[in-house]
Amino acid sequence: SSLIDPRYIRDRIRTVPDWPQSGVQFRDITPLLQDPKTFRVLVDCFVHRYMDHDIDVVAGVDARGFILGAVIAYELNRGFVPVRKKGKLPFDTVAEEYELEYGSATVELHADAVKPGDRVLLIDDLVATGGTMIAAARLIQRLGAVVSEAAAIVDLPELGGSTLVREQGIPLFTLCHFA
Ligand code: PRP
Ligand code: ADE
Repeated sequence: SSLIDPRYIRDRIRTVPDWPQSGVQFRDITPLLQDPKTFRVLVDCFVHRYMDHDIDVVAGVDARGFILGAVIAYELNRGFVPVRKKGKLPFDTVAEEYELEYGSATVELHADAVKPGDRVLLIDDLVATGGTMIAAARLIQRLGAVVSEAAAIVDLPELGGSTLVREQGIPLFTLCHFA
């Protein structure tokens, strides 16, 4: 149901070997954002998919999920709520700790960011181990809302994250993958 050939997106992502540490192939989405035509195509892919999904609110994950998430929310005429790294949100929060491909972290969401029954579109740039997406989804679910779908530009299926996300019952949509 993607509007474009996954190769169009994949060919415009830059791979940086051994960053931020040895053995990691870093999939850098900044070239997709930098080129105005590509940025528009990218955003439109998500906007067209979610126009008919009855979304109440869009949540984006700190930091790269903010870039896409905010623009998608704006285009869908919905509000945007940030899922942030620990210690950044000033009001009452819920928190979830998780493991990364490199390290561990905690994400937080304002307690009033979503309401019970809200249908939430959850946006990040990439799914690696799935830890971030699952933790973000739990925050939304703990507040009584529903993750209508989780979406990202890139899936790294070899790391197993996309399978884990779907095993948690969270629908997941990605535009391309690196095998
Ligand atoms: C990256 C990426 C995802 C997450 C994916 O964020 O943007 O949020 O890792 O990894 P996972 O599936 O193994 O959890 P990072 O924590 O590097 O933060 P950043 O967006 O601030 O660069
Ligand atoms: N986040 C976690 N793993 C990553 C990778 N290989 N490239 C870009 N972002 C990431």
